[in-house]
Amino acid sequence: EMETNRTNNWMGKKVLITAGPTREALDPVRFFTNYSSGKMGYALAQVAMENGAEVILITGPTTLTPPVNVTTIEVSSADEMFEQVKSRYENMDIIIKAAAVADYRPTLRNEHKMKKQDGPLTLEMERTTDILQYLGQHKTKQFIVGFAAETQDIVRYGRKKLENKNLDAIVLNDISRKDIGFASDRNEVLFMTRDGKEQAIEQDSKKNIAKQIIQLIDSELRKV
Ligand code: CTP
Ligand code: CA
Repeated sequence: EMETNRTNNWMGKKVLITAGPTREALDPVRFFTNYSSGKMGYALAQVAMENGAEVILITGPTTLTPPVNVTTIEVSSADEMFEQVKSRYENMDIIIKAAAVADYRPTLRNEHKMKKQDGPLTLEMERTTDILQYLGQHKTKQFIVGFAAETQDIVRYGRKKLENKNLDAIVLNDISRKDIGFASDRNEVLFMTRDGKEQAIEQDSKKNIAKQIIQLIDSELRKV
């Protein structure tokens, strides 16, 4: 089975993939997170590995089993993910950022479990580092693929992220759709490149979507 899956030869290519949500701690028992399941990122890691690539998967907390023959690094917060990405991106050929990284974390992390008080609680949140933006600013040879989750104006916001973050391609998810994405095993995305290509990938299993994304990245790499 594995042999028949080898459609592209990615032998010798180094691929870094991030997946899953992050957790931003408030105190020892509480955190902020999102609905990302990690399935899309894990499927991409699996397919890249099956194509012969050397794959590093940096993942936030998920319930998934790490793919075999993939170096999997587990992290929790956006900051931990950033540290791992920063120390490994330089000699990568391809970076795919499928993780749903938190944009904010609590400004103060309480050492002890917070006690409830009478009345409402007001929290202050601060920005996390935009990892993808950092990669776009520091890129040398890497082909960088971002992901974007949008509920409206998908193409316009997607194109803006692609350009602002200096990416080579972006995979757009419509998260207003309840039947696909996040926890689902199925997805439907739009693959958009820097030079203006827009390719819709029809609804399918995340494994098949991953195969098509890898195929599209492969044809972009062959252009240069
Ligand atoms: N991303 C990242 N680091 C962050 C936030 C986002 O690397 N701190 C990456 C995600 O992994 C994804 C891409 O940026 O590949 C787009 O994430 P998304 O949430 O759609 O976009 P943002 O740029 O965070 O903008 P917004 O949430 O305001 O739409
Ligand atoms: Ca975001």
